[in-house]
Amino acid sequence: MKALAGRFRPKVMLCVAGALLASAATAADPWPRAVNPAPRNPALDARVHAIVAGMTLEQKVGQMTQADIRSVTPDEVRRYYIGSILNGGGAWPSMNMHSSVDDWLKLSDAFYRASMSTDMKVKVPVIWGTDAVHGHNNVYGATLFPHNIGLGAAHDPALVGRIGRATASQVRATGITWAFAPTLAVVQNPRWGRTYESYSSNPELVRDYGEAMVRGLQGQLGSPTSVLATAKHWLGDGGTFHGKDQGETRTSEANLAATHAAGYYGALMANVQTVMVSYSSFTDTASGKHWGKMHGNAHLIGDVLKRRLGFDGLVVSDWNGIEQVPGCTKWHCPQAINAGIDLVMVPDDWKKFIGTTIADVRTGRIKMSRIDDAVSRIVRVKLESGLFDSSPATGQHPDATVMHSPEVRMLAREAVRKSLVLLKNDHGVLPLRRTGKVLVVGKGAASLPMQAGGWSLTWQGDNTKTSDYPNADTLLSALRKTIGAGNVDYSPDGKVADLGGYSAIVMVAAENPYAEGAGDISFPRSVRHTSRYPADLAALTRVSGKGVPVVTLLFSGRPVAANDLINRSDAFIAAWLPGTEGMGLADMLVAGPDGLPAFAFTGRLPFDWPAGDCLAKKGGIQFRRGYGLTLGSRSTLGRLPEAQPVMACPVESR
Ligand code: BGC
Ligand code: BGC
Repeated sequence: MKALAGRFRPKVMLCVAGALLASAATAADPWPRAVNPAPRNPALDARVHAIVAGMTLEQKVGQMTQADIRSVTPDEVRRYYIGSILNGGGAWPSMNMHSSVDDWLKLSDAFYRASMSTDMKVKVPVIWGTDAVHGHNNVYGATLFPHNIGLGAAHDPALVGRIGRATASQVRATGITWAFAPTLAVVQNPRWGRTYESYSSNPELVRDYGEAMVRGLQGQLGSPTSVLATAKHWLGDGGTFHGKDQGETRTSEANLAATHAAGYYGALMANVQTVMVSYSSFTDTASGKHWGKMHGNAHLIGDVLKRRLGFDGLVVSDWNGIEQVPGCTKWHCPQAINAGIDLVMVPDDWKKFIGTTIADVRTGRIKMSRIDDAVSRIVRVKLESGLFDSSPATGQHPDATVMHSPEVRMLAREAVRKSLVLLKNDHGVLPLRRTGKVLVVGKGAASLPMQAGGWSLTWQGDNTKTSDYPNADTLLSALRKTIGAGNVDYSPDGKVADLGGYSAIVMVAAENPYAEGAGDISFPRSVRHTSRYPADLAALTRVSGKGVPVVTLLFSGRPVAANDLINRSDAFIAAWLPGTEGMGLADMLVAGPDGLPAFAFTGRLPFDWPAGDCLAKKGGIQFRRGYGLTLGSRSTLGRLPEAQPVMACPVESR
């Protein structure tokens, strides 16, 4: 473990940053010149060239196509030379959420074999990508890690590297060799529903984590424990105006380079093999130029990413992302390919895409040289990944315990402990003694879907039950295991007549799970937690101020205004979206048998924490990024201001 940790030392990161910055240019050209750490390999290039030279146009365009497993069969992969498949969020073998690891392996093998029985001169294997964004999250029974925002609070690149390794093992266990992770968004506005997919608003942390996660996932390329990583979403996804999903990023190109691209510098240093393009658009506030959707941006994809930064892997589009380029549809977009997209995620309309793209090449709208570049990148990545050598299902055990082994659960539990940020601990309420009786309040305390958030079994993390998560603990079950079931009572709504017998109350306030789009809190909706979840305030109000100390945990995918909850609690913990290992929460709440803290609070805020709805206004921030108490800190927070009506916020601070 020590040796691995050493690879992610901040010192190394600083050198990397230094080398990049040393070559950074002027404001007119803000981009560093990246040194590709993987030296060119002439033998590999020659092999790629020979393979591509032997391909027909149909075969090449087939290779540039990525279809969803719900819309393509193995036999179609064979007939159309499909280069890649994915299972989008909530897509499982036979559309069975409870599919076993063996079901995943069999499907992987069927697709692989189909791709290796085409009539191509050199058969090119299909590659399967999946959104393993906090562990192998589409797979029943898999241990789920805290979402990225919680890892950001841990400020621990070595931990992130170990999570990457563990995730790679989970993904490989199902016969899949490509993870659509990490998200490297440097989120500016917590109204965005994807804030939890972002590590931090601090570009340096995102850079270090991008490098660590890519190294962790990819390990040694081509080895049986390696999966390809994806740096996503290029570029500016976290900077959209008002935090709108798929919105418009208004900033200068210099700020794109300094802030939003930071994670890519780390990922590129770690030899990331794939980059996914962002749904967002870019307006350059320095020049006034509206560049439009990133999926059509030849400057930022072709000139900057591929040529200037020297990225030699493949660029994949996002789910139906091409249709948002003006003049395009879901199945036809020469602009996107000409802008530099190599592999096109056309989940459903892949057949029409192949037809229209072949026609575009024949009429000269897309040059053959662009097609050859795209296919060469795809083939090179596949060669690097070892896919040509054997089926990714070969050698995997159908009862893959690696999905939830004691080791992976311990790692997730450690990550949970390190991700918690203590915002209040008046009168040293924490840690709780192991002896007294505890009342647990709040729906989230017994809900794995709320504890895990979006991208958990399903896309939005909805339509699931706690019983869909075996091998997992809610906070409630974890507390019962820790201090004994007889010492823990549970009341979701806090309607308990007599609190006299309790030594403490543990309250969980929680968001319902959400992912893209649906997770946005669009203006004029309030970012105050209790205006969206008034039942949490009602429950807390029932138990607060009754002479029993209250410890509140908040499960949320972003910092939210919570001063009313904080005021009614003696201790308050930002717990983010911890995933399946509730034991990590109990570890931090309960003292050891000797009455002393079992673990220290080390988490610090990865984002500014708002006081109310006026996010960017003076006084709008309650706790600065980097804030976090330790158990030793003597905090008496005092009463925090509560009212701040959203309509009173100036436009720019929404
Ligand atoms: C898919 C997701 C995808 C989303 C995009 C859903 O139907 O399952 O994987 O991200 O569509 O809109
Ligand atoms: C998301 C991507 C994801 C893809 C495939 C898109 O909607 O933006 O992050 O990788 O779907 O599920």
